Amino acid sequence: MLSASANRIVTKIFSPVENATALDPLISTLQKAVRALVPPGEVRDVLHGVPAAHPVHPVLVQIPLGSWTSAAILDLVPGTESASRRLICVGVLAAAPAALTGATDWSELHEQQMRTGVVHWAANLVAVSLYAASYVQRRRGRDGSGKVLSYLGLAVASAGGFIGGHLAYHQAAGVNHAEEVPHIVPSGWNSIGTLEDFAEGRVTRSAVGDVPILVFRDGERLSVLSDRCSHLSGPLSEGDLVTDADGSACIRCPWHGSTFSLADGSVRRGPAIAPQPALQARQGDGRVEVMLPGAD
Ligand code: FES
Repeated sequence: MLSASANRIVTKIFSPVENATALDPLISTLQKAVRALVPPGEVRDVLHGVPAAHPVHPVLVQIPLGSWTSAAILDLVPGTESASRRLICVGVLAAAPAALTGATDWSELHEQQMRTGVVHWAANLVAVSLYAASYVQRRRGRDGSGKVLSYLGLAVASAGGFIGGHLAYHQAAGVNHAEEVPHIVPSGWNSIGTLEDFAEGRVTRSAVGDVPILVFRDGERLSVLSDRCSHLSGPLSEGDLVTDADGSACIRCPWHGSTFSLADGSVRRGPAIAPQPALQARQGDGRVEVMLPGAD
């Protein structure tokens, strides 16, 4: 009962944002600016968190939020003005890399997610501005107004965090969209057809149980991956076959360009940070069978 009311409230708050098409021209401009600032390549992958196999943005936001929360506590303790001022400065400076990583992730989302994301941006921009003004006031010796500004900043940053939480947990931005695959692929070896069902040198869409998969045939060898991209569930089997710098065959997602090794599903290019589940394949009695490693 309580959760039904809470759900209604959350829907009432966020539905207008998710459906606010009036934001789209601004989003388009910002998206182009972010893509121009951080074009596809290694730097962009680092900002997404591809080398770490973990998103960078949630880690970096802890520095400004931690600094500002600590300053809010110190502001209640007499004689700690200097320490509080320094923490606010650290938070304002640390907001820049946090914003850059967030903007990079944001620029490769669905439109409803981008609308929520742009409101998250705006709230955080206001929070940083309030903290910057607070710092200036404190430097001028006006600690009273500096404290008021920073408490306002904390309130707005908390609202920004709430919106970011909705983006991540309700709208599933930044989560691994292939996580459920190992839990729903039927265990053991599963027949998916005969070798002739899979055209040579091509990617073919198939399924194991309810899970869509892609099959790439190279002679007698078959590479099999889960078909829904770990970034945002794009149909990998509709993507392009490409060759990575080390010569390995890869598939590039048609939606945002994430690139995965066909051999093992590892991420070769973001924005995806989680690998595609790869299945083992074998042939026997004219049939092709697949199995998740370790699921026998
Ligand atoms: S869905 Fe975004 S890269 Fe595949």
